[in-house]
Amino acid sequence: MSDFEENVRAALANPRNQGEMADADSVGTVGSPDCGDMLRMWLKFTEKDGRKVIDRASFQAFGCQTAIAVASMATELLKGKTPEEAAQLSADQLTGGLGPLPPMKIHCGQLVEGALRNALGSENTRNAPPAATTLNDQLRPPSGNIRIVPLDPADS
Ligand code: FES
Repeated sequence: MSDFEENVRAALANPRNQGEMADADSVGTVGSPDCGDMLRMWLKFTEKDGRKVIDRASFQAFGCQTAIAVASMATELLKGKTPEEAAQLSADQLTGGLGPLPPMKIHCGQLVEGALRNALGSENTRNAPPAATTLNDQLRPPSGNIRIVPLDPADS
């Protein structure tokens, strides 16, 4: 197993900042055209030393283990960053201590980067979905008998 895979496994044992944020200031959602996975990120801002910075970030994912591990890392390292600083972060930088993304996993990191950029761009926009809407809510059909069953992470 590579160092990256080991680090992903360790991050998944204790994922940070998972779940919707009811009092978020902005929310971003992105789907991967490569694999169909989806990720949503919520941001809450605060004022520090006269600057607007990210106070908290959280995420919800219908995605692979790598996307979840990267989102967990990213939501930790976004704390205290200004929106401008956050917007500069690449997928590889958002992986934090996981290490560089292997070629096959680059789009997983880009899913997190995309949700972040979407959240940064959605602040105060009327088109942003309500902050408390979960991916699960959005994927649920209005009626019918379709049931969404999360996959066991060990199987993906
Ligand atoms: Fe789809 Fe990783 S395989 S985000």
